[in-house]
Amino acid sequence: MRIIIYTGKGGVGKTSVAAATALRAAALGHKTVIISTDAAHSLSDALELQLSGRIAKIAKNLDGIEVDIQYELENRWKEIQSYLSDFLASQGMDAVTAKEMAVFPGMELMSALFYVEEFHKGKQYDTVIMDTAPTADTLRLLAFPETANWYFDRLFHMVRNVIKIARLTVGKIISTPLPSDRFLEDLENLRERLGYVRDLLTDPEITSIRLVVNPERMVISETQRAYTYLCLYGYTVESIVINRIVPDELGGDYFDAKLEEQRKYLKVIDEAFSPLKTISARMMPREVLGIKALEGLGDELFGKDDPTKIYSTESPMKMYDEDDKSVLAIKLPFPMDQKLELYTRKDDLTVQLGAFKKSITLPHSMANKQVLGADMEDGWLKVKFQGEDHGKRKDRKKRRGRKETGKAR
Ligand SMILES: Nc1ncnc2c1ncn2[C@@H]1O[C@H](COP(=O)(O)OP(=O)(O)OP(=O)(O)O)[C@@H](O)[C@H]1O
Ligand SMILES: [Mg+2]
Repeated sequence: MRIIIYTGKGGVGKTSVAAATALRAAALGHKTVIISTDAAHSLSDALELQLSGRIAKIAKNLDGIEVDIQYELENRWKEIQSYLSDFLASQGMDAVTAKEMAVFPGMELMSALFYVEEFHKGKQYDTVIMDTAPTADTLRLLAFPETANWYFDRLFHMVRNVIKIARLTVGKIISTPLPSDRFLEDLENLRERLGYVRDLLTDPEITSIRLVVNPERMVISETQRAYTYLCLYGYTVESIVINRIVPDELGGDYFDAKLEEQRKYLKVIDEAFSPLKTISARMMPREVLGIKALEGLGDELFGKDDPTKIYSTESPMKMYDEDDKSVLAIKLPFPMDQKLELYTRKDDLTVQLGAFKKSITLPHSMANKQVLGADMEDGWLKVKFQGEDHGKRKDRKKRRGRKETGKAR
């Protein structure tokens, strides 16, 4: 099964591009499902048909679903939610608040991931296209399998304590409800299932992340940050979709300035994201609504290509620790035989190599560390940053744990 996730800043065209991809994939005979994880649910509007929280047929070979958290809570999360709300109520919280509090952050995100898991296990689809919410939410979604373990550890800890207290005080405090076996089983299951999803999403032969941008400054900055963090979490960013490019022939007094600005930002996009594969689409003369218009956008984006093709199985940027140093590795599209210059400014790193310039948004963990130097190895430029300082040795064990998972990815 192939999973393609479109992400990017609000309004750049994620939903339109995802729908266009799904329609094209289905037309080529791939059994496809498109899943919207955005609570705003504009996928229905783009397709001009009403999708819901249950899988429905859109076209030949194409199904679609918009994750509906209310439906998910009633079905998937019943046991967990009802125990948590009973527990909170037993601690003195009023019933309505307890119910609200029992929806722990991430439940809807997890629901979306579980669909992906079910599709993989069910083997009914060749292609899963994910239309996501704007960047920040998607990063939360993708970071979730990792963060979830942290949640579960705490939840297990809390539940174990409840059981312990209940045993010690049998007959005295009867108001604390004990979790049912079913609840404990559900929690353990969740943990296991998230591990499964994480493996799917970080397998470059299965999952590709495609960043959608417009040639505009604010869009590019947010996408650069997303790119950095996706690479840091171990996902494969496979390509970049530049959407809504204003065609040159639209110049003239009014639009010349726009075209000039666009040329500048197309260059900035190249500096920030090359050598990622680029897919592009012009600004269409009309809003892209309905299946026919989306098919037109699909032609514009992919020409005769199969959109489910894997353009790359490796992000051209990686981060990991090595010999107590933090390393940022950047794939360069050519050999490094010229003078290399590195500049850092706040959380940006710029690499200048002759006429080639590349700018990277650093993750917070590297942004305030000193650059120690750079080496070229097998087409990868490795920029080394100062590791932890000696005063922080106590933390080392903890960080080592993280380092190893980072490497394994
Ligand atoms: N290439 C294009 N040419 C013209 N209009 C476009 C193009 N791509 C998208 N649009 C239009 O731009 C608007 C926003 O697109 P879309 O809903 O796909 O963006 P999004 O990134 O999914 O937004 P959100 O972040 O709100 O989910 C829609 O009205 C869509 O029809
Ligand atoms: Mg959208």
